Amino acid sequence: MLKTRITELFGIEHPVIQGGMQWVGYAELVSAVSNAGALGILTALTQPTPEDLAKEIERTREMTDKPFGVNLTVLPTINPPPYEEYAQAIVGSGVKIVETAGRSPEPFMELFKEYDVKVIHKCTSVRHALKAQSVGVSAITIDGFECAGHPGEDDIPSLVLLPQAAEALDVPVAGCGGFSDAKSMVAALALGGEAIVMGTRFMATQEAGIHQNVKEKMTEADELSTNLMFRTMHNTARVFKNSVSDQVVEIESTGTATFEDVKDLVAGQRGRVVFEEGDLEHGIWSAGISVARVKDVPTCKEMVSRLVSEAEEIIDGRLQSVKA
Ligand SMILES: Cc1cc2nc3c(=O)[nH]c(=O)nc-3n(C[C@H](O)[C@H](O)[C@H](O)COP(=O)(O)O)c2cc1C
Repeated sequence: MLKTRITELFGIEHPVIQGGMQWVGYAELVSAVSNAGALGILTALTQPTPEDLAKEIERTREMTDKPFGVNLTVLPTINPPPYEEYAQAIVGSGVKIVETAGRSPEPFMELFKEYDVKVIHKCTSVRHALKAQSVGVSAITIDGFECAGHPGEDDIPSLVLLPQAAEALDVPVAGCGGFSDAKSMVAALALGGEAIVMGTRFMATQEAGIHQNVKEKMTEADELSTNLMFRTMHNTARVFKNSVSDQVVEIESTGTATFEDVKDLVAGQRGRVVFEEGDLEHGIWSAGISVARVKDVPTCKEMVSRLVSEAEEIIDGRLQSVKA
């Protein structure tokens, strides 16, 4: 058993969290992760309306009696979704764990406090983590440069960012970005992390509701299989390297590109088709550098059990044996 302040805080067996994933974090995956003793997290905005989110929470509850959470990602968009209504759907459904991301959780903290919701805020810098701590979050996920999705603009990998955050904060910190297996999990614990949050690794599991082609492609990937796009727009996103993301990077390399120039290539609906139909070159899809470490497509239970038992072996075996 690996016990930390985060396993205690969320009432979970293992210090392992599945981060919110747009178009991936459905009830099947989330319940499988929670049933495996880790923390599954639904993605609020994957559901078209707050009412659909309430139904998805109910569906998850039918499949697990273990704790699970909901991710609320707040991003600047031209037509913002009704974030407040999604937050109301979360508290109204009795969910007690929320992962916030994208911007400060401050506007929602009063509501979450009123309903006794524990907030774990995901951010990519120590300064944002300190700010989130000051508005009352229970824990921080610190997302290193390796991560899938939005690594921020500071480019600090988990090896440095996680201990910096763990030393600066009083609330427990989960390492995120680049974690995929027992080796990296033990490293996270050594660096001061009290859990790991994984996205990419959980995509390549049996229960992830994405096309088999995507999962198989991930098992063939290496450490050069991601692209960083939107660098020139200061809104960096790490995505899988394919012909579409290559094209976006090339257009950006002119130095004068605007969002309009790549808008059609990066449309979210095109990426959704990749996940649903398995056409790997249809659009952009998120993946972290840890995709290099994905070698198989196990069930969540197999993956989490293996992670924890191998982590214990490393702690009791290899680490002990290097002590002179
Ligand atoms: C397909 C995919 C979709 C994601 N969507 C979201 C999202 O909507 N909101 C969010 O906060 N993080 C999102 N993430 C990021 C993950 O929650 C997590 O922070 C990240 O994957 C960690 O890095 P890793 O991929 O190296 O494990 C997504 C990740 C992936 C792979």
